[in-house]
Amino acid sequence: KKAVLAYSGGLDTSIILKWLQDEYECEVVTFTADLGQGEEVEPARQKALDMGIKPENIFILDLREEFVKDFVFPMFRANAIYEGEYLLGTSIARPLIAKKQIEIAKETGADAVSHGATGKGNDQVRFELGYLALDPDIAVIAPWREWDLNSRTKLLEYAKNHGIDIDGKGKPKPYSMDANLLHISYEGEWLENPYNEPEEDMWLWSVSPEEAPDEPEYITITYKEGDPVAINGEEMTPATILESLNTYGKKHGIGRIDIVENRMVGMKARGCYETPGGTIMLKAHRAIESITLDREEAHAKDEMMPKYAKLIYNGLWWSPERRMMQAAIDATQEQVNGEVRLKLYKGNVMVVGRKSENSLYSEEHSTFEADEVYNQKDAEGFIRLNALRFIIEGKKQPERIAT
Ligand code: ARG
Ligand code: SIN
Repeated sequence: KKAVLAYSGGLDTSIILKWLQDEYECEVVTFTADLGQGEEVEPARQKALDMGIKPENIFILDLREEFVKDFVFPMFRANAIYEGEYLLGTSIARPLIAKKQIEIAKETGADAVSHGATGKGNDQVRFELGYLALDPDIAVIAPWREWDLNSRTKLLEYAKNHGIDIDGKGKPKPYSMDANLLHISYEGEWLENPYNEPEEDMWLWSVSPEEAPDEPEYITITYKEGDPVAINGEEMTPATILESLNTYGKKHGIGRIDIVENRMVGMKARGCYETPGGTIMLKAHRAIESITLDREEAHAKDEMMPKYAKLIYNGLWWSPERRMMQAAIDATQEQVNGEVRLKLYKGNVMVVGRKSENSLYSEEHSTFEADEVYNQKDAEGFIRLNALRFIIEGKKQPERIAT
């Protein structure tokens, strides 16, 4: 047996690595991705070597551009939000990790893939739906569902007994966390009681709005076919744009949320998230759409959005229905070009201006001053016909309308 493990270099996946070698007696290929989590990925190489992984079985990839261009941006074209709050920062990274693991399995002749997600969460579903969609014959090893190291104490004991370094970078984290260019998440521990307020020093990616500068800051974002391409007129790659928006958001205390969400497996879970750049991007994208999309086109998109968001949350990125909705969403974005001006201030993102070559906004029509293009008398018949049902009911059965 040979398995490709999604390996962060942290404590949990190091234990999994060891466990795969010892209990499963399988040859392990490690895959470590830089998704912009803000931690060095190179140290994972030495750790893997130390655990006896062959150099040719160690894969370390910088996926930042691919992540933002092919996953984050398409999702933001949909304005996706799960349960009214969550910008899906972890959910959208899983399909890419699954895809790379399968590619590496093919390249190295591995017959299995493995991950460190528990049997209680969403991530296991997202990884494994990806694996099976991309390679129907792949075997999946999910140690958390198999081993008896079901507590923190047992894990640490196993690590100690097997010579795994539990200090330094592999030190257990105070929360269950996941980070990439789009967000950082915190779950568990103190947060498990949903009435406990998050401690200020939990938040790593933004200052608190109270500590944010007293002066607002203005930025402009340029959009091309629904994707941001420049900030303040300076063109940047997708990953660089998101990185830059993260810096603005962090400085102004933007993008913190604290929610209880419904997990796929049926339980509720409390999570805190920081999505600084994404929060700015969502606001800006809606603003540019507000002048470039037709009303019914925009409303149809909005109706589809919660379904699209749920499907991303539920790990269905590789599904036919995601491809179908994506095609519909992308077809609307050709017109979504132009510039949005934003004011960032103490946790807020305020849209203060928008313009586009493709704008459908007609000052000539909407002006409160005299105009030559709109006949106010047209509205009379429009209203009377819209009221026709009321007029008939009001004459025939007035008692049904009262109160
Ligand atoms: N609850 C969020 C989600 O399902 C975040 C999951 C974080 N994952 C983790 N391995 N810490 O998308
Ligand atoms: C996990 O259970 O591994 C993390 C949380 C989740 O997947 O929802």
